[in-house]
Amino acid sequence: MIITVTLNAAIDKSLAVPNFRLGRRHRTVDQRTMAGGKGVNIARTLKALGQPVIATGFAGGATGTHIVEQLTEESILNDFVRIREESRTNTSVLDPTTGDQTEINERGPAVSAREVELFRDKLLYLARGAAIVVFAGSLPRGVEPDLYASLVRDLERLDVISVIDTDGEPLRQAVRAEPDVVSPNVLEAEELVGHEFATEEERTLAVGEIVALGPREAIMTLPDGCLAQVLVDGQRFLKRARVEQREPIAKRGSGDAFLAGYLAARYEGRAPDQCLRFGVACGAESTARLGAGLIDPREARRLMGDVELSVVDLPAEVT
Ligand SMILES: Nc1ncnc2c1ncn2[C@@H]1O[C@H](COP(=O)(O)OP(=O)(O)OP(=O)(O)O)[C@@H](O)[C@H]1O
Ligand SMILES: [Mg+2]
Repeated sequence: MIITVTLNAAIDKSLAVPNFRLGRRHRTVDQRTMAGGKGVNIARTLKALGQPVIATGFAGGATGTHIVEQLTEESILNDFVRIREESRTNTSVLDPTTGDQTEINERGPAVSAREVELFRDKLLYLARGAAIVVFAGSLPRGVEPDLYASLVRDLERLDVISVIDTDGEPLRQAVRAEPDVVSPNVLEAEELVGHEFATEEERTLAVGEIVALGPREAIMTLPDGCLAQVLVDGQRFLKRARVEQREPIAKRGSGDAFLAGYLAARYEGRAPDQCLRFGVACGAESTARLGAGLIDPREARRLMGDVELSVVDLPAEVT
């Protein structure tokens, strides 16, 4: 079983609005409402890929009920802690004439210390039957920035792979708890190591810098693939996966699809190369669809053949 944790779950509303302009009144030509938040998106993709998954996290108020109902309707197993405050609704406006996507994310609910402890209990219970736990997305208001870090430490005693996809201070704290995998995009990685990357070499070095902060493995997603430091039989390898850039219909959520693909392959016991390849293929495939977490598994498997994988020499200072 794979557990996805979404502490800031949401209802995602995607609106298609041609010729979108600020200050004007518009009509949508297409709209879609789905349960969202990064962990929920990852769960949706894992389900589409045929992997056993349970989505957990916090859900509150009528919007929280809606999230749970939507997941249940999609046959995505879920077990959320109900909270007092209302879960958020995120609205994204896609202009099909320009491809521009505008997002407005609500601030979201504050979570109490007691609700956090209820969640901790639930997670430790669920994780007993799990192979992988993935923490994805931002933290809700009211919780300490070290929450992911402390949950990763709690999981240490169990035989589960812990995976982190977040940013900012929660990521900084989480890497110190030595999770198994972190998967920032370029911006998140730059923020984590504290400088920008101008060249491919700097990006390559950065993956090693991230691993030096604590995680066993690090994957930095790039618009055209990923760079990853992975372990093969206890030995470190740096890998670069590349795929041809496509004209995206909707880029949002491609990182979630990447991680779902990577984890699906890992759950099946595939070698790191195959996991990275499948992740990149799923990320690329997801850009053809409006709505986060939606992919066509057959198309993703076909795309896998187009993903090039190479070994990069490990820079001397990080080996
Ligand atoms: N235009 C594109 N064409 C092909 N593949 C893409 C494209 N955009 C993204 N991808 C794939 O999706 C994966 C994730 O991309 P990216 O680094 O942009 O994620 P992200 O910034 O975390 O996205 P999000 O947070 O919106 O989910 C990458 O591995 C990349 O290969
Ligand atoms: Mg991401």
